[in-house]
Amino acid sequence: MSKDISKIVVAIDGPAGAGKSTVSKALARDLQLSYLDTGAMYRALALKASRENLRSDAGEEIGKLMENTEITFGTGDPQPVFLDGEDVTSLIRTPEISEAASAISAHTPVRKALVARQQKLVAIGGVILEGRDATTVIAPNADVKVFLTASLEERAKRRTIEFDQKGQASDFREVRQQIQLRDHRDITRDDSPLTVAPDAHIVESGGVPVELVVQKLKELINNVVN
Ligand code: DC
Repeated sequence: MSKDISKIVVAIDGPAGAGKSTVSKALARDLQLSYLDTGAMYRALALKASRENLRSDAGEEIGKLMENTEITFGTGDPQPVFLDGEDVTSLIRTPEISEAASAISAHTPVRKALVARQQKLVAIGGVILEGRDATTVIAPNADVKVFLTASLEERAKRRTIEFDQKGQASDFREVRQQIQLRDHRDITRDDSPLTVAPDAHIVESGGVPVELVVQKLKELINNVVN
């Protein structure tokens, strides 16, 4: 069965630091598809919740908040993110919002509200979506499903370099410990734990140049498009 590339859905899953964002953005750019950064939606909702003085454990209220919240994306790198029309691209990348997004993402009402919104965007097609439940929950019927993976050491090394490049001080051992904690939280959470979908392609990104990983994914996509 082959498909028009402008309608294709490619879902990219995997643990923190496996390179999901870098690879997804490169693919979306090269193939002229849209890029859905599902994590940015958790971040934007976390920002709105904190502005409304909702605590991160108020799952029910935060899920409800999504009913009258618009989260939209622009094009560019970094991809602009709009919360109810306001450009919040940099406001959602602070350590406080990273923490808050992680905390709110554990609550089922929040996940339900965001997954429903994400599925509407995916239904349009022509999209590369990225996130920790992309292949298992948001788009289990995606045309191409990829689980990107790399060792803990490799992912920590990559994150440390990213912090360096942004001029932010970081310590390799601390970064490694944070990733390990996040892995544990992602794998053991009750709602949508990080798992490999049975028919996902497992792609190793450790020590592999980004261009080669992107190339590999393009081959997988080529196999399903006409
Ligand atoms: O990928 P990120 O760091 O921008 O994601 C922010 C938070 O949102 C992260 O702690 C995990 C959560 N998240 C999620 O639970 N499911 C997704 N599909 C994407 C992100």
